[in-house]
Amino acid sequence: MARLIINDILYDLKDGEPIRDICASAGVPLNCNSGVCGSCLVKVLEGAQNLNPLTDEEKDLSLDVNSRLACMCVIRQGMVKIVF
Ligand code: FES
Repeated sequence: MARLIINDILYDLKDGEPIRDICASAGVPLNCNSGVCGSCLVKVLEGAQNLNPLTDEEKDLSLDVNSRLACMCVIRQGMVKIVF
């Protein structure tokens, strides 16, 4: 099991699960769901290493491991803490 903390609220996910749906239910604005619009930008406070590597879409936006697009992220395992 993986754990995602969004703005100090804890959510349980399966290992390898995309974080998109949980982020959307927590209020992160997801518009395109394809890494283009940038609306779902989140700041990673802890556990960046537990997310998938940066996608090409995120690299195109010059993001780094601490600034990710929720629609592009998969939690591999462990805990990740984000804010938006
Ligand atoms: S919803 Fe558009 S970049 Fe994530």
